[in-house]
Amino acid sequence: MSEIPAHEIVVASTEEEIQQCYKIRIDVFTHEQGFPIETEIDYLDPIATHFLLRLTPSLTPVGVIRGSKSSETGSYKLSRLAVLKDYRQFKFGRELVEALHNWILKDARKSDQDARSVKVVCHSQIPVKGFYAKFGYISEGDEFDEDGDPHQKMVLELPLE
Ligand SMILES: CC(C)(COP(=O)(O)OP(=O)(O)OC[C@H]1O[C@@H](n2cnc3c(N)ncnc32)[C@H](O)[C@@H]1OP(=O)(O)O)[C@@H](O)C(=O)NCCC(=O)NCCS
Repeated sequence: MSEIPAHEIVVASTEEEIQQCYKIRIDVFTHEQGFPIETEIDYLDPIATHFLLRLTPSLTPVGVIRGSKSSETGSYKLSRLAVLKDYRQFKFGRELVEALHNWILKDARKSDQDARSVKVVCHSQIPVKGFYAKFGYISEGDEFDEDGDPHQKMVLELPLE
């Protein structure tokens, strides 16, 4: 593996940063993987927190992940994790998941100080189930179709202590 490029992860807070997140997702999910562009931007985007991994000092965007909290169940959702093809295997995917988990922990501790754990859900594409399993995500239920491709619901109980 070549040397890991210098980088940072930020919460996308400007319109330009949000658009950079969308562009990475469209590059990876639409152009590389063939998912429909119509469903790429969805109902969670306006309410989600978007994390952007970018190289420093150039600020070139290379990775993204999105977190949201369900007001009905109180659980969190990890979605739209993508790293541009040329930048895989630098542990950027892992860093993005860890950044999201840290945000979830902070948010969950604020809203319920007595809770011992918090539930995080993701809908994994089948070839990346092993990636999520490395963080402790466990498959729940049967595979299902999402946007024309099989997915597996995976769940993590993230300890708050
Ligand atoms: C999935 C993805 C984000 C992983 O990012 P990455 O930066 O290449 O992965 P990392 O280098 O952080 O890998 C972290 C660990 O997971 C492992 N891993 C990576 N991809 C994996 C896969 N498909 N299956 C199983 N393990 C995987 C790595 O070997 C590494 O293991 P280690 O920490 O024990 O050494 C990236 O491959 C990607 O963007 N894929 C296309 C989009 C996609 O499928 N997104 C998921 C939608 S559900």
